[in-house]
Order: sequence, then structure tokens, then C-alpha cells
Amino acid sequence: MKDAQPRAIRLSDYRPPAYLVDHVDLTFRLHPKATRVLSRIAFRRNPDGSGGPLALDGEGLRLIGAWIDGAPVTPRLTDTGLEIAAPDSFTWEAEVEIAPEENTALDGLYMSGGLYCTQCEAEGFRKITYYPDRPDVMAPFHVRIDSDLPVLLSNGDAVRTGGGHAVWHDPWKKPAYLFALVAGDLVARSDRFTTMDGRDVTLNIWVRAGDQDRCAYAMDALKRAMRWDETEYGRAYDLDVFNIVAVDDFNMGAMENKGLNIFNARYVLASPETATDADYARIEAIVAHEYFHNWTGNRITCRDWFQLCLKEGLTVFRDQQFSGDARSGAVKRIEDVQMLRARQFREDAGPLAHPVLPKSYIEINNFYTATVYEKGAEIIGMLKRLIGDDAYRAGCDLYFLRHDGQACTIQDWLKVFEDTTGRDLAQFALWYHQAGTPRVHVAHRMEGGTMVLEVRQEIPATPGQDAKAPHLIPLELGVIGADGAELVPSQVVELTEPRQELRLEVGAEAAVPSVLRGFSAPVILTQTLSRADRALLLAHDTDPFCKWEQGRILARDSLLGMVADGAAPDPAHIDALAPVLTDGTLDPAFRALVLGLPSADDLAQALSDRGTVPDPAAIDAARTALQTAMADELKPVLTDLFDRMAVAGPYSPGAEPAGRRALRNACLSLLTRRDGGARARAQFAAADNMTDSIAALAALLRIGAGDDQAAAFHDRWQGDRLVLDKWFSLQITAAPGDTGAAVAARLTGHPAFDWKTPNRFRAVIGALGTNHAAFHAPDGSGYDLVADWLIRLDPLNPQTAARMTTMFETWRRYDTGRRDRASRALERIADTPGLSRDTAEMVSRILGASAG
Ligand code: TRP
Ligand code: ZN
Repeated sequence: MKDAQPRAIRLSDYRPPAYLVDHVDLTFRLHPKATRVLSRIAFRRNPDGSGGPLALDGEGLRLIGAWIDGAPVTPRLTDTGLEIAAPDSFTWEAEVEIAPEENTALDGLYMSGGLYCTQCEAEGFRKITYYPDRPDVMAPFHVRIDSDLPVLLSNGDAVRTGGGHAVWHDPWKKPAYLFALVAGDLVARSDRFTTMDGRDVTLNIWVRAGDQDRCAYAMDALKRAMRWDETEYGRAYDLDVFNIVAVDDFNMGAMENKGLNIFNARYVLASPETATDADYARIEAIVAHEYFHNWTGNRITCRDWFQLCLKEGLTVFRDQQFSGDARSGAVKRIEDVQMLRARQFREDAGPLAHPVLPKSYIEINNFYTATVYEKGAEIIGMLKRLIGDDAYRAGCDLYFLRHDGQACTIQDWLKVFEDTTGRDLAQFALWYHQAGTPRVHVAHRMEGGTMVLEVRQEIPATPGQDAKAPHLIPLELGVIGADGAELVPSQVVELTEPRQELRLEVGAEAAVPSVLRGFSAPVILTQTLSRADRALLLAHDTDPFCKWEQGRILARDSLLGMVADGAAPDPAHIDALAPVLTDGTLDPAFRALVLGLPSADDLAQALSDRGTVPDPAAIDAARTALQTAMADELKPVLTDLFDRMAVAGPYSPGAEPAGRRALRNACLSLLTRRDGGARARAQFAAADNMTDSIAALAALLRIGAGDDQAAAFHDRWQGDRLVLDKWFSLQITAAPGDTGAAVAARLTGHPAFDWKTPNRFRAVIGALGTNHAAFHAPDGSGYDLVADWLIRLDPLNPQTAARMTTMFETWRRYDTGRRDRASRALERIADTPGLSRDTAEMVSRILGASAG
């Protein structure tokens, strides 16, 4: 049925490179159809290498000429590069021709609206010239760009610019995946930063003319991130200029190229009228993330792509810390857990489950996953909790000292902590190697004044991994008394065995354990707690995560009862909410989270875990019914909060006003279920910022009453690409479940549906995946629509098409009718002639044809 899979790359096959590079000199003569790339590379045989000829990667290159030490040579060309016998030390020169205008994959050198730009991670540099395109080959780069375009950028510091060319020099050794070049008609918003060691750095954010007024927040975030890395990790910036460029066509969020970060424009540009509070928070996080890579990724990089989590897990952890410090740490932690559960737990529970450090892959671009990034970040957080903040900092200091300028492994990373703490981290290291979300079961009983906790852990089987050893799990816990007082303060217990008994002196006959505080480990906790116990913790727990978590479980169980048994909404849940919502000592942003309900996808997974086949329409109906009941039962509280949380004065994206808007708009969303839309219409008409405008529009669309506002929104914003993306996706995500697939189908016919632009494609096709009932429409129309469009996108942009196949990763949860329709849609993709290796690998793993 399908062609044989291309060969898998295995960690066990890793060999050091045969040659090392001492210096790279590149000249680009830019032309949309025929760019010439001249390379001059100083090679030296690796004393620790395996020997053999010079083998260079290269893809889609037209070789014009090649020289070794100045003498013309004729290398043997292969599908994936070239090979030639070479001396131990020599200069390689080559001239190749490429066509950036024809590069629709957005990998290598490509064009976006007249702008030349590059994306080289993971293996894009081989589409620019012949090179050992692997992260353990690091070298300084010297780049000359010949072009009449006004702005010519590359990595490092500018040596010369102007007069139709520019020369850049990057003194820091780097792997080719961090190379970048940008050329175009751009304008900069500039600023300065003085590092802790006195270096005066020019900061530039380069955008299209007209966008320069939307860079202030990204610039502010950048400066705060630079200072934070100095104070928290002792890391200072190391060049005289730091450039950020915003581009419209981009496969992912952003890229940490040395000294020249390239961003998807949506994660740079913001103004109050066009960006929501959530957009501002994401911009802050991504700007910080890419900046933090300068040390965790660039100065110290990965030996091979299996070690991707070395830079990504650590850098995500660092950006989460930064955002937590810049805003409410408690709220940030809960949001990160929500994201982890929605994306990584989902991945870990399905056919794409893989370890944070995988042992094999077919297409590396398919391993930029929630597991590598988010679970990878959780592992760092666990390590820090286990060894303590000071030991964590000491280990990081040693890491930077010992490994600066190197390409490292996870073993190197763990070793610095073993060396600084004297601890053996062998069991802890299993977190990198075992896939699957561990289940932790906790049962408690009182023996007089002693609380006895029976704790079990188990890790479910995942593709290719049946039996697993127990993890070292840091379980943070405390105890709350029947009167709400904290009887036992927080402590971290280390679980190492399949079963363990813990005894806590409580000094009272009745008490409730508060377990997994701060979400101290990425596990699924099941606990025998009554609803009254949960309500007690929701009211009194001193740990904000556990407090929120109990509210979430009350809501989830209420919804599951409604779906599975047709029960009425649980009054215990709704009653427990009122005092939290009105507690003025609590951060409004936190209260907004407590008011939110578990997503439909969460509920489907919860049902599936209980052995019930989820019915998407029933889940959708239960969520709507519970929201309606909450609107009825909590009406005075919601109305009062809606009024009191109004923010006076001009818009500011700070955490405090954003939290008030979040709570106010959460109230609005519920109230709109019962007020016929009056409040939302008024808010939509009066809003002076995108957060309030879009919240009102969403509330109206959810009750099927937002057509006029959607039309007005379109008329106002049709000239703004980023806002128009919101207009497209919101109509799909907020559509009632039974209409969402039809709305998406209609929008694919809209003249502004530029499906070749990844942001627009994701705004429409991707949005359907987040409307659970719509994507899983019983007639299969959601599956078919997505499959049709992925088949269309794949030949142009395999990376983005492959990534979006994950919309299907849960298909086995559902009933036979849906399973048949989903698997047929997937097989239709799989059977498409000429399907990319990227998408072929994903679809085959999702269908379960091969283990990951
Ligand atoms: N390294 C980037 C980051 O995490 C992400 C990335 C990997 C990427 N491959 C990419 C971005 C391809 C864009 C395109 O910050
Ligand atoms: Zn990253």
C-alpha cells in the first residue's frame, strides 16, 4: 500500500565527524531565481574521527565548481550531498546556485514578500551550500552579501555595510543550523543595552515599513530578558549588536540564530488595538526564549539532534522562569501545566509518544515536539526541586564553565549536577529515556494523629516501550486540617519505588493531604478524595496550583457525570466557586483560571482513560449546560465581578490589568449564555483594545449571535494580516460544535484565505482542530477537510503539513464510525503520490503502522 519507509537515523549509530571546520567564508550574490553561494571552508581531519573521505551534505544545489587548495576537483555527487577523497588539512571552495524564490518549504534560503531570509534548523543549511550539516561541527563564520537591497544582515557583528554589499563576522564558533541571512527593505526600531560586564550593545528589531510602531513591547521584553539572564544565570550577551527580524512566512514561532534571531511576525508585533493580552504574554516568552538560547543552545549546543532537549527543554524552563518572575509565578505555573496536559500528555498517551531523548527518528523536523520541549522543561524543574535552588545554580555555573564552545549531550548536562552535588542521578535520568506519562495513585488514611499515604507509581506502555522501571519522582506535599489550617508545611518526598508508604505526623484526627504541590512532577495523579475534601482544598490550600487543581477536578467530575450518566451539574462544584471568585486577596488572573472549565479534549481523554468512548457532541453539550448553570447559579457574583473588574484608563499589557480583563471576560463569557448577548454587544462596540474586542466577539459567536460583529470586525481589520488571522480562527474555534466544520469549509473559500502562508493556513485549518466537536463531526467532514488541505499543502511545505497531522493523533479514542472516517482520511494522505518524508512518517506513526 505504501512505499517502504526511508531509513531511520539511530542514536547508537552516532560517530564523531571525520573532519572539523576551522573557518567558514561565504559570499552570497543574491538573486530570486539564481543566487550564487561561494564557500571557502578550512577543513582539518578530526583526530577523534572515524577517518574516511570528505562527505558534505547538500540538497537541491546546482554545483558550479569545486576546488581543493585551489585546484579544481570533481566530487562524487549523491542524493544527499557529495564525497571526495581529501588531505588531512585543506581549503575547500565551492560555488553553487540556488533559487530562493522557488523555495516554498521555508527551509534554507527563501523569500517572504520580497525579503530574503533563512531557516537552517535543523537541516536547512545543506540547501544553501555543501557542508557537514551537523551540530557537532562548529566554526566561526565570515559572510559577504552582495545585493542592492537596503538592509543586509547576517550573524555576528557588521564589518562593513553599504554600497551594494555587507560583510559580517561572527567570532563565536557555531554549528551551521545557527547560520542566518536576511536581505530586504526593512526598517529598525533600535535601542541600547549595557551588559553587566560593560559591553554596549545595539538592539534592533527589523520590520516592514508601517510595522515599526508595534515593536515597543518586544524591545522591552528583550531588555528585561537580557538583564534577567545576567542576574539569574550570570550570563551576559557577547556581541556588539543583537538583531531581531520579523517575517510573515515562517514555519514555527522563532529561531535563535546567533546574533540574528528570526521571528514569525506574530510573535513580535503588538499594539493594544491589534494584540491580545495572551499575544503580549507569548511575545514576552518567545523573545526571552530565543534570547536565552544564546547561551543554552548557541554557546553550548547539541552534539546531535537526539540531544535536542538539551537546548530546548532547558531554554523552555528558563523562559517559563522568566515569565513567572515577570508576572504571577503561580498563574504562570498553572498555565504551563494546562499547556503541558493539553499537548504533551495528549502526545504521550497516543501513537506519537516518544522519549524526551528519542533513540531513532526518520525526519528530525518531526521531533520538535511538546515532549522534547515541555516535558524536557519539566525535567529541569524536577531536578531543581530535588537538589535545591543553590545547587541548581552551582550546577548551571559549572555547565557554562566546563562546556562553553562545545556540542554536548544530556549526559554532560547531568554530570555537572552529579559533580556539584555528589548525587547519583542514574534513576533520575530515566525521565529522558522512558516515554509515557507516569500515573501516581495516592490513598491516605489516618492512624490517630498520623497520616499514612500509600503511594503507587506506574508508567503505561508506549509504542516500542512495553516495560518500564520506576521513575524518581519528586512529590511535593503538605497537609491541610479540617478547619483549613496548614498542619504540615510543604516538603518534597522522593518516590523511587513502585509502591511506597509515607507517614506524616499531623497532630489532628482529620486532615486532607495536598499532593503534587506546584505540579512537582509531570504525572497523572489519582487520589481518593471526597468532594468535600476537594472543596476544602479549593478553599484553603496554601499552594496555588493545588488550590486551582481541586477546582478543576470538581468541574471535570461534574462534567463527566453529565456526559456519562446524564447527571445534573454538581452543585458542590458551583457552590465551592463563589467564595474563591469573591476573595479579593486572590489575584484576578488566578480567579479567572478557577472559573475556566476543562477543555473538550481533556474530557475526551478523561473518558477514554476510564474506558468510555467519548461522544464529542455530548461533551460539547455538557460544557454548554454547565456554563449555563454557572451563569444561573452565580449570576450575582459574575455580574458584580464583571462590573468591578473593568479597567480604567489607557490599555497596558501588564499582568495586573491583564488579570482583571481575564476575570472580567471569563464572567462575560458565562453571562452571555443567559443575557442574550447584551453585555457582549456593548463591550464589542466600546472596546479600545483587542483583548476586550475579541472576548466579546467570541462570547457572541459561541451563542450563535455574532454575525454582525464578525462582519464589522472584518471590515475594520481586513488590511491587517495578523488581526485577520484572528478573525479567521475565532469564527471556527468559537462556532457551536455542530457548525464549526461548515464554517471552516466556508472560510476556505474566502478570497483572503492565502493558504500558502503558514499563519493563514494554521488560522483556518489548524483552528478546526481546536474545536473538538467540529473536527470530530460525525459525518467525517472535519477529517476530510483537514486531509484535503494537508494533501494540498504537503508538496509546498512539508514541515508545516507534517506538524499539523497531529490533529489526528487521538483518532483511536472514538467510536467505530469516527475511527473508520479518520483512518480513511489518514490513509488518503498516506497514499498520496509523492508525499513528503515528513508527512509520510507522521501519518504512518499516527496510523500505528510503525512504532515511533
Ligand atoms: N529552535 C527554535 C526554537 O525553539 C525552533 C525551531 C526549530 C524552528 N526548527 C525550526 C523554528 C524551523 C522555525 C523553523 O526556538
Ligand atoms: Zn527553542
